[in-house]
Amino acid sequence: MKRNDPCHCGSGLKYKKCHGRKRTTTISLTSRPKRDFEIMDAESLPKMRKVCTLSANILDEVCERVQPGTTTQQIDDWVHQMTLDAGAYPAPLNYPNGRTDPKKPRITTGGFPRSVCTSVNDVVCHGIPSENCVLKEGDILNIDVTSYLNGFHGDTSRTIYVGTPSEQAKLVTETARECLELGIQAVKPHGRLIEVGRAIYNHATKRGLGVVRDYTGHGVGRVFHAEPQVCHYPNRETDCELLPGMTFTIEPMINAGTFQTFLDKSDGWTVYTLDRKLSAQFEHTILVTETGHEILTLPDRNTDADK
Ligand code: MF3
Ligand code: CO
Ligand code: CO
Repeated sequence: MKRNDPCHCGSGLKYKKCHGRKRTTTISLTSRPKRDFEIMDAESLPKMRKVCTLSANILDEVCERVQPGTTTQQIDDWVHQMTLDAGAYPAPLNYPNGRTDPKKPRITTGGFPRSVCTSVNDVVCHGIPSENCVLKEGDILNIDVTSYLNGFHGDTSRTIYVGTPSEQAKLVTETARECLELGIQAVKPHGRLIEVGRAIYNHATKRGLGVVRDYTGHGVGRVFHAEPQVCHYPNRETDCELLPGMTFTIEPMINAGTFQTFLDKSDGWTVYTLDRKLSAQFEHTILVTETGHEILTLPDRNTDADK
C-alpha cells in the first residue's frame, strides 16, 4: 500500500494519515463513522489460528458430552477446565471487565459470571450456566465458546439437540445452520459485508423465520468485540469492503417467531425471544483470504480413527 492510497480500514483517510502513522491515537472523523479493524499478518495469524482451533475443539468435545440430565453448570465446568488446561482464559468470564489472567480465573469483577454461554430453547444468546438448568429430552441448546490465548480470541458456537427435536426445533436449528453457511459463502476479498447479511436474511425469511437484529457478529482478534459489526440482515450503515486479513464472526440467531428480543433485567444478561418461541444460533470465526475465506474455528482434535 502506498502512503497516499486510501487506508485499508475504510476510514476514508489517506493511509499515511491513518494506520500508516507512527503513532495511531484516536483520529477524530466528523463526516464518517470511525472504522478501525485489525488486519492479520504473518505474526498474528498463527496465533489467531491456534486459539480458534482451541475454541472449536472445546466446543466439539463438550457437545458430545451433553445428554438429557446434564446441567448447564456442568458444561461451564467442562469448558472452564479444558480452557485452563490448554493454558488459555475463557473470555466470557468477567466480560467486559476483562480479567484475562489464567492464574486468577475465578476472581469476580461484575461482568459475565461464567466461562461459557449456554442458551436453551427461547434464549437467544448470553444464557448463564446454572446448576438449576437441567437439560431435558427435546431441548435445543446453544453452547458459545470463546477462548483467549497469546493475546487473541477465537469465538464459535453451535446449537445441538438434546434427545429428539420437535419439527419446529429442527426448522429453526437447521435454518440457522444453513444461514451461517450461506453467510460464509458470501465472504469474498474486496466484496461487501452487506452481502453476508443479505444472504442470511433472505434464507431465513423465505422460511417465515425471524432474524435477530439486536445482536450481531463482530470483528474478533486481539479484541473480543471489534469492528466491523456484522449484521445478519442487509444494513448499509455497517457495510464495508472485505479485505484479506480481516477476521470476524458470523453468528446468525434465527427465531421461530418474531425477530424481537428482550433482556432479562434480573440477571442483566439472558436474552429471550419476545414471544418466547424457539431461537437457534451457529457461529464461526472467519478469515478473509486473497482468494476467498477460511473458517478458522474448525476442530482438529483426534478422532477415534486417528488413535
Ligand atoms: N461469545 C459471544 C459472542 O458470540 C459473546 C459472549 S459475551 C458474554 O459474541 F459476556 F456474554 F459472555
Ligand atoms: Co461472537
Ligand atoms: Co460467541
